[in-house]
Amino acid sequence: MTDVPDITLNNGVTIPQLGFGTFQINPDETRDAVLAAFEVGYRHIDTAEMYGNERGVGDAVAESGLDRDEVFVTSKLNNSFHARDDALKAFDQTMDDLRLDRLDLFLIHWPLPQVGDFVETWRALEEIYASGRCRAIGVSNFQPPHLRRLLESTETVPAVNQIEVHPYLTQDTVRAYDREHGIATEAWSPIAKGNVLSDPVIKQIADRLGRTPAQVTLRWHVQRGDIVFPKSSSPERMRENFDVFGFELTPADVEAISALNRDERTGPDPDTFNFAG
Ligand SMILES: NC(=O)c1ccc[n+]([C@@H]2O[C@H](COP(=O)([O-])OP(=O)(O)OC[C@H]3O[C@@H](n4cnc5c(N)ncnc54)[C@H](OP(=O)(O)O)[C@@H]3O)[C@@H](O)[C@H]2O)c1
Repeated sequence: MTDVPDITLNNGVTIPQLGFGTFQINPDETRDAVLAAFEVGYRHIDTAEMYGNERGVGDAVAESGLDRDEVFVTSKLNNSFHARDDALKAFDQTMDDLRLDRLDLFLIHWPLPQVGDFVETWRALEEIYASGRCRAIGVSNFQPPHLRRLLESTETVPAVNQIEVHPYLTQDTVRAYDREHGIATEAWSPIAKGNVLSDPVIKQIADRLGRTPAQVTLRWHVQRGDIVFPKSSSPERMRENFDVFGFELTPADVEAISALNRDERTGPDPDTFNFAG
């Protein structure tokens, strides 16, 4: 089985660089999808309260026969629970739904700078971390000004910042800020939900290497050092996406793919996304 490299987070906890994403997997289908991902070899699962499928992830972890220590599970605090007490309650609910005693990574899903004070939310996550029920805490969709505020006002540097990254949105500024502050970047929608797979530059590299466009794109992320967790409901594509450690892109390939950037998001802009509507 392929060995997925670990990335060491700023508190010493390690996370497999390649995981399995579960956004838009139906709650009813999540258990089977995650069990299929375990079968392929994935040992890192990314879920969120917002996805409504934490129970399915918990069922799969419980039924997998894997030791708890062999699986890395991330979940995220939903947008309506930013106040301290709500955040603590939401974490308890996440743990009940996942049926875990200890989570590996818990993130603030969106900063929502126009809605509330994410510093208060972060302090709630610091409490959770101090309780020992979560091995690492981090953020998602935070821009450098949001991170700057957290670093100035609180004690704990986020272990990760999970942001949208793919060849059409290379996120050089946020990734550089993360790197300078010891925050690991996690790239969500790593294949832009499929949008980059017919790109001629990516196709040409894939043809030359005898690989698929998805594999070339995921390999680009891996070589740039980011953590990725593509989602697929198909075991065949799960296998394809997992098989990205047996080949290498040249520096020129990495550069050519990075040059495809057009700052094009598939999801909301964190500066303006206002969940409260
Ligand atoms: N923090 C956040 O705000 C945030 C936001 C979005 C996503 N995420 C996380 O990031 C994960 C990945 O992002 P994502 O699910 O939005 O998008 P993605 O992984 O970039 O793309 C998933 C889409 O691509 C298709 N696909 C997967 N592998 C393929 C392959 N080898 N060839 C062709 N098509 C393929 C999938 O279809 P099939 O299922 O039919 O294969 C699905 O439609 C999510 O699942 C979630 O865990 C986080």
